[in-house]
Amino acid sequence: MPHVPNLFERLYILRANRAPGAIYDLLGGGTVKSVALAAEFGVFDALADGPATADDLATRLAAHEETLDMLCRFLGRAGYLDSDGDTYALSDLSERWMVGDPGLVDWFTFWDSVVYPFWDDNATAVLRTGEPEQSVYEWLDDHPDRWPTAQRGFEAVAKLALDPVLDNVDVRGKRRLVDLGGGHGRYSIGACRVTPGLEATVVDSPVALDVARANAADAGLAERIHTIGGDLLADDIGSGYDLAFAFNVVHGFTPAENRRLFERTADALDPGGSVVVMDQFEGAGPIATARAMNDFIGFTYRVLLGGRVYRFEQVEAWLREAGFTDVERVDLRRAPGVTLVTGTLPK
Ligand SMILES: C[S@@+](CC[C@H](N)C(=O)[O-])C[C@H]1O[C@@H](n2cnc3c(N)ncnc32)[C@H](O)[C@@H]1O
Repeated sequence: MPHVPNLFERLYILRANRAPGAIYDLLGGGTVKSVALAAEFGVFDALADGPATADDLATRLAAHEETLDMLCRFLGRAGYLDSDGDTYALSDLSERWMVGDPGLVDWFTFWDSVVYPFWDDNATAVLRTGEPEQSVYEWLDDHPDRWPTAQRGFEAVAKLALDPVLDNVDVRGKRRLVDLGGGHGRYSIGACRVTPGLEATVVDSPVALDVARANAADAGLAERIHTIGGDLLADDIGSGYDLAFAFNVVHGFTPAENRRLFERTADALDPGGSVVVMDQFEGAGPIATARAMNDFIGFTYRVLLGGRVYRFEQVEAWLREAGFTDVERVDLRRAPGVTLVTGTLPK
């Protein structure tokens, strides 16, 4: 997919079960590999400059012409490229979502070169024991050359979620933000852009923070965005903040670790300070695809981190135990399957 079965296929194959509909999933898996391979060779970047023939592309990208033509043909059928005779161009889907700095192509590359290689080495053992021997973040720390790929993948998703998040988080008048597991720093940068005078501190593992510093400098915000390298659950995360983000970190921790995370967050905030948690939640999502994606992502968190997607009620309880009140939930409509939870400390 986005190969979309037509009405006949949906009725005959999927609803009446007259042919094996599982083939669509084989096609979807092959599409991810094909998109990632095309991205590795620079096909999407080259076509972002304008349409080209396979011949021309093969010369520019040092690829075998007939083989590249076969790959582009398939990507055309899968909806990623348009073709006119022997000329290929980005499809509307690719123009809008896949290319860019970063684009969803980078998210596919992350799955292809970080998630699935880790899965191949660990999933069998995880299914027996319930957790990987080391988390994917520890593995990335041992393979620092892969961290930029992971960060670009996270950034591609953050780029899509940033506006819906800022539409739903009240950053007005805030002075000091701590972005827990903020990695690439895009959310801190976005919050600083819309909030004059706000200073942000991104806390993450030391090796993950190079990207945050580079992004802050590119955005002209190096003076207002600070970093602390360390373990969220054990090391100093600073203090005197009035806002904390915990975006896409809860799913990687055990319930005991999340209790500890929120206790430490409450300690780092001034009275009256707020925390915003963003994650996927079990059963959440306005459409069946988002709910299925959350189940799949939850299983993937188990393989990568020993984690899971939690129920909202669990996160709510941990926040209340840590002293937060007024706990509220917003399911982001423009980012289906993603939920924000806010809590505030008494003044
Ligand atoms: C999935 S990424 C999310 C990045 C960013 N918050 C976002 O939403 O795009 C999770 C981040 O949390 C960091 N992280 C996870 N566990 C951590 C820990 N115990 N200490 C410090 N950072 C941690 C990872 O290094 C990674 O950068």
